[in-house]
Amino acid sequence: MKDTGVGIAEEEQEKIFDRFYRVDCDRNRQTGGSGLGLAIAWAIAQKHQGQITVQSQPSKGSLFTIHLPILPT
Ligand SMILES: Nc1ncnc2c1ncn2[C@@H]1O[C@H](COP(=O)(O)OP(=O)(O)O)[C@@H](O)[C@H]1O
Ligand SMILES: [Mg+2]
Repeated sequence: MKDTGVGIAEEEQEKIFDRFYRVDCDRNRQTGGSGLGLAIAWAIAQKHQGQITVQSQPSKGSLFTIHLPILPT
């Protein structure tokens, strides 16, 4: 998933997958949100033995990629 939003600083990129974590500026701006969205997405990906990665630059935007393995049935 790609957007052209505010972006995420390098040092925040690993933290945003933590439960209830919200980047400071977002918390202050009262945009709503619980900080659970990415934690839930990460947990779902883990359950499927996959992972989620983020590539982002502040003010440029963000790219979230979900990797899921093809498992034998
Ligand atoms: N696409 C994005 N662009 C910029 N910041 C993001 C993006 N997605 C998440 N974040 C940052 O990561 C924090 C956690 O996101 P998320 O787990 O989705 O929480 P919520 O459920 O509140 O949306 C957000 O508060 C925001 O600061
Ligand atoms: Mg969210």
